[in-house]
Amino acid sequence: MRDLVQPVTDWVPLADPRADNRSLRSELAAAVASVIEGNNYILGPQVSAFETALATSIGAAGAVGVGTGTDALVLAMLGAGIGAGDEVVAPSHTAGATIAAIRMINAVPVLVDVDAQTFCIDAEAVDAAIGPRVKAIIAVHLYGHPADLPRLNAIADRHNVVLMEDCAQAQGASLDGRPVGTAGQAGCFSFYPTKNLGAIGDGGAVTSDDPEFLARIRAMRTYGWKKAQYAELPNGRCSRLDEVQAAILSVKLASLKTWNERRGRVAAAYGQAFADLPLICPTERPGARHAYHLYVVRSAKRDALEVALRARGIRTGRHYPWPAHAQPALVEGARIPAPLSVTDTLQREILSLPMFGAMTDAQVERTIAAVRDAHRVV
Ligand SMILES: Cc1ncc(COP(=O)(O)O)c(C=O)c1O
Repeated sequence: MRDLVQPVTDWVPLADPRADNRSLRSELAAAVASVIEGNNYILGPQVSAFETALATSIGAAGAVGVGTGTDALVLAMLGAGIGAGDEVVAPSHTAGATIAAIRMINAVPVLVDVDAQTFCIDAEAVDAAIGPRVKAIIAVHLYGHPADLPRLNAIADRHNVVLMEDCAQAQGASLDGRPVGTAGQAGCFSFYPTKNLGAIGDGGAVTSDDPEFLARIRAMRTYGWKKAQYAELPNGRCSRLDEVQAAILSVKLASLKTWNERRGRVAAAYGQAFADLPLICPTERPGARHAYHLYVVRSAKRDALEVALRARGIRTGRHYPWPAHAQPALVEGARIPAPLSVTDTLQREILSLPMFGAMTDAQVERTIAAVRDAHRVV
């Protein structure tokens, strides 16, 4: 059947950080003004206040604000003593940043498959991949669904390796009531503008229950300084969360729960509306609370569906268009102990639908109608 639709002038975006920010415009403007007046622009009271608020929000002993989510991973690994030549097990199906961070410290990625239901790292594959050079596992809570932390923790303990959580997409997610970012040695967060808690620029944080580890990260974000101008720790960087972003994030953190609840309601509406379509929709494992950073469906006719949705004014995405093992700069020198068959299948089928905290009912309804209508032509 030919797909006859009008040219699109009014899109439903995939994400819309401006809509979230507009809903708090006056509070955000006041927060930025207070930084300007405070005359303390780097690692001042706003960063400290946000670190405390973030740690409290997930029940961690502390948090350290850094420049980006990628830096949070880099610093967490360095702070845990991982370095050149050490192996780090991570999923190939993730944001390239996870694997880029491993490469930035000259460690060796060990790429494993993901679980087909949750899209998160497959615990059995991790167990089988552990060898004598493995020093850490990175559990990516992909799309906002928590990875199988109890099993991963048991594997990490058994092999005496460190468990890191990549929480970039999962702020507000939990497993058996326990928020992500508190299960392993470190929780690594990103405040990239489209994230569930997004800055108006870059930002990241490392959370942990280990005070000595937090002190190391704190020193390493400023050149390895333990006291001003005295570089004591090796591998120091310059990676600081800035005061303006911290002030913005403190304001927005208060709305995170509401926005995440909205994401959950949008996901429920999608799931119900698409139940009779040939799509695999995301689900939550028992005990898991999904943060729905992304709403990723699987379709055997993904490419045609993508085109049909574009024709109907719906922005979609592929998260991610290439797994790490298909990207030359990420795969070079990596160890791939077993076939990545789930990852390869997902690559052909995944499609992200619009999902954001400020999504209106009209945008949800338009997306649902378009997905249903598109199935007449795909
Ligand atoms: C899973 C994952 N890890 C790490 C990152 C890196 O975060 P950032 O862009 O803040 O460096 C991102 C976001 O881009 C991500 O989605």
